[in-house]
Amino acid sequence: MCDRLRDKPQSVLALPTGATPLGLYSELTARSRAGAVSFEAVRIFNLDEYCGLPQSDPHSYAAFLHQHLIAPAEIAVSQVHLLRGDAADMEAECRAYDAALADCGGIDLCVLGLGMNGHIGMNEPGATLQVGPHVARLSEVSLRHPMLANSPTRPIYGLTLGMGDIMSSPEILLLVSGANKRKPLQQLMQPAITTQFPASFLWLHSNCHLLCDRDAAHGLKLTP
Ligand code: GLP
Repeated sequence: MCDRLRDKPQSVLALPTGATPLGLYSELTARSRAGAVSFEAVRIFNLDEYCGLPQSDPHSYAAFLHQHLIAPAEIAVSQVHLLRGDAADMEAECRAYDAALADCGGIDLCVLGLGMNGHIGMNEPGATLQVGPHVARLSEVSLRHPMLANSPTRPIYGLTLGMGDIMSSPEILLLVSGANKRKPLQQLMQPAITTQFPASFLWLHSNCHLLCDRDAAHGLKLTP
């Protein structure tokens, strides 16, 4: 990521939330403080957000990104585009997000976590997958995500970038960490493409990097 930001300081990054990218965000913050990378021109979009949670809600993905990257790395708010989970009109919010992304020239680097059921962003398993930003009905797995554990508001829907947004990024970085991700990682490695496991579509991308830690990869035969 630092190399990409050096090559193109105004890069558009689509960034995930959750336990997985915490190490990445603290490393990026440390490097930014050390002057090894600059976020002065970067543009940031969040991948997804819970419907019904305002950005001020501590359980929102917006609050998470602020806490773990935007504030500590001192990224100007004017460079950050976050989905508004409390928008009055969710469809209009999706269209506005799509337009904001297009205005910035599209995503340069999309960073992803892996859902327990193979979701990426909030593109949940189903008969079909959606192309652009959309409102998604959250799966049972997503509703049980630890980020919602203490939330008094129980979202049923989320806003997310679509599979087309992710796949049209010229570079994708999929992060997989923790022993609990062994099973989905194993399924991802098969490889077989199915809408019932959205991350499997990443096999169709020509510049997608998978980074997994030892806990997630334990016992797995990983092939490129
Ligand atoms: C959540 C989010 C995803 C996230 C994934 C993995 O439900 N919708 O954007 O990448 O699940 O989260 P974690 O890294 O906490 O396992």
